Amino acid sequence: QVIEAEGLLVLPGFIDSHVHFRDPGGPHKEDFFSGTRAALAGGVTTVLDMPNTQPATDTREHLYEKAALLASKAVVDYGLYFGATDTNIEEAASLANEVAAMKLYMGSSTGSLLVTEFSPIYRHFKTFPLDKPLVVHAEDEQSLKYFGALGSQDHNQSRPPLSAQIALSRALAIAEKTGRVLHVAHTTTEREIELILEARQKGVRVTFEVTPLHLFLNEEDQHRLGNFGKVNPPLRSVSDQTALWRNFAAIDTIGTDHAPHTRAEKEQPYAQAPSGIPGVQTLLPLLFNATIEGKVTLAEIIQRCVVNPARIFGLKRKGALEVGKDADIVLIDPRQAYEITDQQMLSKCGWTPFAGTQVSGKIQQVFVRGVLAYAHDTCLAQPGSGKPVSYEAR
Ligand code: DOR
Ligand code: ZN
Ligand code: ZN
Repeated sequence: QVIEAEGLLVLPGFIDSHVHFRDPGGPHKEDFFSGTRAALAGGVTTVLDMPNTQPATDTREHLYEKAALLASKAVVDYGLYFGATDTNIEEAASLANEVAAMKLYMGSSTGSLLVTEFSPIYRHFKTFPLDKPLVVHAEDEQSLKYFGALGSQDHNQSRPPLSAQIALSRALAIAEKTGRVLHVAHTTTEREIELILEARQKGVRVTFEVTPLHLFLNEEDQHRLGNFGKVNPPLRSVSDQTALWRNFAAIDTIGTDHAPHTRAEKEQPYAQAPSGIPGVQTLLPLLFNATIEGKVTLAEIIQRCVVNPARIFGLKRKGALEVGKDADIVLIDPRQAYEITDQQMLSKCGWTPFAGTQVSGKIQQVFVRGVLAYAHDTCLAQPGSGKPVSYEAR
């Protein structure tokens, strides 16, 4: 097979290790076909799907039912998270080899998964295989209340001190005590990065994720976007946003936290509107454009969107463009510029906070395991062609 690629750049397919594809339970927002097709169109050839579906992916039965349901729908490769609850400690540990990671919500979010008491948190940290990633959503409840993520936006209480970071500090301390690996989802503030880097210095086995939302948007954009900018953790100050770029070298992974909600849901009054913003299709375009603008190098983004997620989650065949790896390949025309629009979005939600943004670098073709799956704005892959990934034994 000869691939014409004159004038194009060849990139490894990106890995988005943080998506919410709403299947089962929220197919009006997204299903596994629409979500993976949006990924494919954005040059993402592997996704790891979060457990806050309905039912939540929190028992063996729910995990197997979800896996069976998704098998006929995917057009990119995928792995699943297992969700921690107060009581599923042994069950989670027994399923470790069958999932990408365990997700533990230390702060409330969409869905019902939440573990806030010390005892079950500690037991999960201790019992889940220590070398297998445990991913924490480490937001403090006080902060969630203030930003309205729990329903009511309570601005009567004082703005929560970001310096406290109780959930994150707790997670780092327990990771240190138990010697386990920990991956911190959606790190958004300078203080969080400081805490993580301090812990790392002490030998804590911690890695962290940043989202494109928090890299490219800040609370000024929230005013413009209204509920379409409502997300947990919330968009932060310009100074926190700048801190993410300043600490780019330390960032381990960039995951999108793709969390689609319909326009109708977002157009409700602030308190009722759900938190979450789509992003799987705009990850590569935004980051590639940042390389054109000279903010980061192509090597730096491939490290954080391919190499590191493959290593952290033990994705056997997804490392990068090397012999023995899957031929997940993206061809991109670095010179072709275009404007991101809502209409281009293949997510069922049909909107993006980046509509109107001009970017350079148009994705031309995407190959999944060597098979041409997407070409010139058309999905060629059949539902079911995306396969579950396999994990390195830990
Ligand atoms: O804003 C968010 N939405 N944050 C999360 O952690 C979950 C997500 C969702 O599933 O909607
Ligand atoms: Zn989260
Ligand atoms: Zn999330």
